Amino acid sequence: MGKSSKRLPPRDRKKQTADASAMTGFLKYALVAGLAVMAAFSFQLFTEDAEVRALKRSVAPLQSPKVTELDYFQEGYKDEMLWGTYRPGMYLGIRARVPKSIIAGLMWLGISKQMYRTRHECEDSDEMSGYGWLRHDGVRFGRQELLDEGYLITTSFMKDPEDRGAFGEWAVRVTYDRNKDYIDIRGEQSHFNQGSFLFYIMDETEAPLEISPDFSSHDRPFASGKHAQLGRWEFRTRQNTNGEVHFHGARAKPEDDLTKIVRDNVGKQVISQNKMILDDVIEPGSNMAVFQVTGTVPLEVDFFFTSPGGGGTETEAASIPGKKRLTKRLQKAEAAFDERFEETFRLRENGASEGDIEVAKHALSNMLGGMGYFYGRSRIAISDALKERLKVPYYKYWPAALFTATPSRSFFPRGFLWDEGFHQLLIGRWDRRLTLDVMAHWLDLMNKDGWIPREQILGSEARRRVPDQFVLQHTTNANPPTLFMPLREIAMRIAAASSDAAADVSDDERALLAAEKAFLVRSYPRLKVWFNWFNTTQVGKLPGSYYWHGRDATTDRELNPKTLTSGLDDYPRASHPSDDERHVDLRCWMALAAESMALIGRILGEPADVYEETAEHLSDFSLLNQLHLDEKSGNYYDFGNHTEKVELVPSPVTDPSTGHMYGRQFVRVTHGKPRPRFVPHYGYNSLFPLLMRLIPPDSPILETQIDKLTDQHFLWTPFGLRSLARSSSMYMKHNTEHDAPYWRGPVWINLNYLALAALRHYGDAPGPYRERAREVHAELRRNLVGNIVDQYYKSGYIWEQYKDSDEGDGTGSHPFTGWSALVVLMMADQA
Ligand SMILES: *[C@@H]1O[C@H](CO)[C@@H](O)[C@H](O)[C@H]1NC(C)=O
Ligand SMILES: *[C@@H]1O[C@H](CO)[C@@H](O)[C@H](O)[C@H]1NC(C)=O
Repeated sequence: MGKSSKRLPPRDRKKQTADASAMTGFLKYALVAGLAVMAAFSFQLFTEDAEVRALKRSVAPLQSPKVTELDYFQEGYKDEMLWGTYRPGMYLGIRARVPKSIIAGLMWLGISKQMYRTRHECEDSDEMSGYGWLRHDGVRFGRQELLDEGYLITTSFMKDPEDRGAFGEWAVRVTYDRNKDYIDIRGEQSHFNQGSFLFYIMDETEAPLEISPDFSSHDRPFASGKHAQLGRWEFRTRQNTNGEVHFHGARAKPEDDLTKIVRDNVGKQVISQNKMILDDVIEPGSNMAVFQVTGTVPLEVDFFFTSPGGGGTETEAASIPGKKRLTKRLQKAEAAFDERFEETFRLRENGASEGDIEVAKHALSNMLGGMGYFYGRSRIAISDALKERLKVPYYKYWPAALFTATPSRSFFPRGFLWDEGFHQLLIGRWDRRLTLDVMAHWLDLMNKDGWIPREQILGSEARRRVPDQFVLQHTTNANPPTLFMPLREIAMRIAAASSDAAADVSDDERALLAAEKAFLVRSYPRLKVWFNWFNTTQVGKLPGSYYWHGRDATTDRELNPKTLTSGLDDYPRASHPSDDERHVDLRCWMALAAESMALIGRILGEPADVYEETAEHLSDFSLLNQLHLDEKSGNYYDFGNHTEKVELVPSPVTDPSTGHMYGRQFVRVTHGKPRPRFVPHYGYNSLFPLLMRLIPPDSPILETQIDKLTDQHFLWTPFGLRSLARSSSMYMKHNTEHDAPYWRGPVWINLNYLALAALRHYGDAPGPYRERAREVHAELRRNLVGNIVDQYYKSGYIWEQYKDSDEGDGTGSHPFTGWSALVVLMMADQA
């Protein structure tokens, strides 16, 4: 994604001074003296120039205490969060939150297009009828169903850090059965009765395991070992059915394709014995142990991972829960989830149907079950000239951990900065600790300049899934600072609690508020640098204007040069990118950021005048209107060098040497002359002044904006607000021959969530349009929830987008339970 920007940021003197002034006098003196010596030294001996120095600076972490190192995240919390289903890109993948972990995962042999396939990583091409967590609390418990043709696989995960004596670190139950509801293409019920699944455990540090394939009793672990950070550990299997068991021990590196290792091993027996089984061989020095059960369904196996010398109490093999006891514990955990869910969202109390409630539980569970832990180094793009000079294809960020939610387990099982602020709006309602933890990880990824890589492809497991051309991150690229949304919620909660001193809060709540405050204290220096990065690198020419820098002004392949940095990718902007541009969405994000900074500053008693002033400036309604309101249409627009008269036309490609035509490509042809003007594409971008609540509640402009929302000629559909008006010249247009419309029509849930939240705000604020805002809120909410639920029952998934026409079908990647899971807050009427 993202066109490589050819230039590196110029060295920013201002920021360096800011860094320096934070140091003590002595350090400053030492630094200045040191720099002088070094400067003289390097002047003579090195030819290292400003470009290289800027590059090195861009891969250096910001010098500010790490947020993840706050006391709150140590000891008890760290221990509680150690293990989890933190490999969301796998159908079931478990790991600990250490850089190189013991990892575990499920595989099975499925059929696609009449061929056996090894299922392991979530892939759309597996064409599963549905899969995902039906329950997941983000920490201790989850139950998932995987529907593969005629089979139904259920996986339950459970841990109980307070009862390690009985449970060890974690337990997993896998049940492999016929899917009784399955009807095949001939209209027949599933007739399958044979099945097979595999479960592996592997040490990423490559320390060899002890593997003992004696399955007669679970007293003996199947595999055991000693891990540098996790200590001594044992892994047991217990079959609750009568399948045939096979095994394999392999030597594997973390960057190896584990699916292939297993597939190749099974493949050997297919050839020699016509059986899809492992070879029962343990290679010398194996660090991966694979267990397989095969036979007549149902098949059920419990897996236990214990760590006798590890974090908790000694776990006696003998005390491992029996089948019935584990069943009971799982049922109890599920009941606890259900109770907590109702307590948190009150759907039943508010009259939601059981069907709706079930979808909401799945949505939340998949958001939580989609959380992952990643460790590695981002790859940073460098200019062609530097590649040549430094003889490297890219630069590397420092090695770092990221604990984060993910947009989609199949398509985007990694961290995205723009998505994360939305994710935390939901996660923060369920478990505020997780939100602090995730944001701490993201903020610690900030470099010295105040930049955070927007797509986090950390470690070989994540990298294997991303095509090379999309791996590199560009240090000049921005992305919406959505983390300010959850940050503002935290700040507002603290402000409310302190002004409401008489309120009687529980000890837990008090501790949590204290943790949140400590989090803000630790984060504030980072947030300042982050804000400053946006406020200096993304400014426009006129005061109070901003634009997403880095659009490609030279391409003739795109109908409208994309703006990936904005998160709205192909949403149409000025036809001819230039530094005269003013982007209304970015200006509004900046208003949110400045207002949040001012609020946080006030709470912390920090000098925040400059944020107050900036916030005031950016929320100045007449200035906003001057820069972005098109009086004629009454719409908020970008401004830029623009013409509507562009089209993509097929043109022949000829071989320059022979003059022969050998193909065809689409190029953009401009018929009109671009001129500086408002960019007349009404859509999500135009809504930002409303979404960020910058329109005064008593302004007639508010009424115009709300009326416009409900007009079907523009954005209103029975399925939510579409991204671009039907009246726009770019509505549902391809951007290149191969780039289908993305933010040019379909309904997206994150922006619809913001629209609902804004309507709720205006419905609560006294003013002449209050009733109107309430009505529209109710109707929009009904449409969104109704369609997401319908589509879920129709397709088995929650989707990345929904069609703005026909039946409102889900489109794009699926399951997509990142921001689309905000449907939970819509149902709970918390939006
Ligand atoms: C943001 O930048 C503007 C100039 O473009 C400046 O006036 C303002 O003080 C800056 N705000 C902050 C908080 O640094
Ligand atoms: C607008 O774009 C055209 C075509 O690139 C260019 O010739 C013209 O100078 C631009 N106008 C302005 C004001 O930037």
